[in-house]
Amino acid sequence: MWCEVLLNRLVLKPTTLSDGTRLTPGTHISAVYSPRESDPRYYPSPLTFDPLRFHAIRTHSQDPSSTRFSSTDIDSNEYLGFGGGRHACPGRFFAVAIIKAAVVQLLLKYDMQPKGEAEITYRFEEQRLPSFRDQVVFRKL
Ligand code: HEM
Repeated sequence: MWCEVLLNRLVLKPTTLSDGTRLTPGTHISAVYSPRESDPRYYPSPLTFDPLRFHAIRTHSQDPSSTRFSSTDIDSNEYLGFGGGRHACPGRFFAVAIIKAAVVQLLLKYDMQPKGEAEITYRFEEQRLPSFRDQVVFRKL
């Protein structure tokens, strides 16, 4: 996930946050999310590539149903790529199901290798994404 800010909101009425910060109507607010993804309080050894990181969280959870990829619980240590609260993405369950189906098909049927070094250069709104110039070589198994 390359998102830098999440939870973009427009303040509609005078609001005071729990830390005393006052927000006036018309103010745009966002939550900076990227530092949380590299915070060991949420993710042990955050800078180590661990392909089973979320699988392990789910496996060792007392309540596996509370540790879903589609979680929007902003107090948990879950991935929050779908936002949170009342305006969290309503398409997330559909999106997760389609993504899983597509990834399963790719893993079962293809060997994939990046062609050269990947660069993260493309910016779309508040997100940083892999460059569209990057190439992946697919070999049918
Ligand atoms: C990987 C795919 C997707 C990602 C990463 C994604 C991500 C997001 C995020 C981050 C938000 C803002 C949530 C917030 O501010 O708290 C959002 C909102 C929204 N998404 Fe998605 N989304 C995806 C797929 C979809 C799909 C498939 C649909 C519809 C079929 C959808 C419909 C919406 C709608 C309608 C909103 C606005 C919700 C509101 O403002 O109340 N999204 N999405």
